[in-house]
Amino acid sequence: MTNHNTSLFSSLLLLSLLALVSLASAHGTVSTYDLQKIKEEESYYRQKKVIDISHKYVPDLPSYASKKGLGDFLNLVGSIKNGSLVNLSTFKLSTHSGTHADAPGHFIDKLFDMGCDADSLDLRTLNGPVLVVDTPRDKNITAEVMRSLNIPRGVKRVLFRTSNTDKRLMHQKEFEPSYTAFTADGAEYLVQNTDIKLVGIDYLSVGINVRDDISKVHYALLGRKDIIPVEGLNLDNVVPGVYTVHCLPLRLVHGDGSPTRCILFQC
Ligand SMILES: *[C@@H]1O[C@H](CO)[C@@H](O)[C@H](O)[C@H]1NC(C)=O
Ligand SMILES: *[C@@H]1O[C@H](CO)[C@@H](O)[C@H](O)[C@H]1NC(C)=O
Ligand SMILES: *[C@@H]1O[C@H](CO)[C@@H](O)[C@H](O)[C@H]1NC(C)=O
Repeated sequence: MTNHNTSLFSSLLLLSLLALVSLASAHGTVSTYDLQKIKEEESYYRQKKVIDISHKYVPDLPSYASKKGLGDFLNLVGSIKNGSLVNLSTFKLSTHSGTHADAPGHFIDKLFDMGCDADSLDLRTLNGPVLVVDTPRDKNITAEVMRSLNIPRGVKRVLFRTSNTDKRLMHQKEFEPSYTAFTADGAEYLVQNTDIKLVGIDYLSVGINVRDDISKVHYALLGRKDIIPVEGLNLDNVVPGVYTVHCLPLRLVHGDGSPTRCILFQC
């Protein structure tokens, strides 16, 4: 070998050794850079308070228009006590049980046929900065109330904390028809004058319990396809302010809604 060849050979050897080392660190151990990132994220999240704003699924959780609540929805089909290897249950629930998200197909048949189901709900809308507001206790959420709340453009997610929370309606088995929610003109105001895409409420429906209103509220919000009502939230331990919300519905294909786990991170 000439001198030139020797140095070429050793350079190649060095390069392939380097490649092997970097391959090993990419696949085997975590790089110091990634480890640093993990540690930073870990301490960032550890400082934040997490508030669970979903209700527990229990037989006494209220169910829309029912006196009897959810009832026994969980069924143990295999039990260790009876000689089965595992405990195994099935459950049967309405898609609109407890804390849940509505899909556009819930009220609008055309959108249901177009596949606007629980699986298609936008995760970007369901996760991000959120404003929690208190609404006037003596009123439903009318256009006038919406105007007074004065929610600026650019705010995409709002959870409305109402007298439903004070009255602990989600903790009462029997359905309460006089719950607080949006009137038709309140929903229309939201659609026309705000950028709100995630609409959270603390009882089982985003629309008041008047047939005409409940339909109009849902048509106004769901008809937009990009607005997601999240109903039955637990806002017991939440003070008004800014948080980060994470809501994750199940990927229920053809589901007109889905039970949803929602949490807040304090900012
Ligand atoms: C398994 O099911 C039995 C009922 O047969 C119940 O008593 C027990 O607590 C269950 N165990 C676990 C670990 O869930
Ligand atoms: C266990 O077996 C008993 C007796 O067959 C039956 O009555 C009971 O319902 C069973 N329980 C479960 C959880 O399968
Ligand atoms: C909200 O509307 C419902 C249904 O009409 C009604 O029963 C309830 O009294 C209203 N709530 C308030 C605070 O006005």
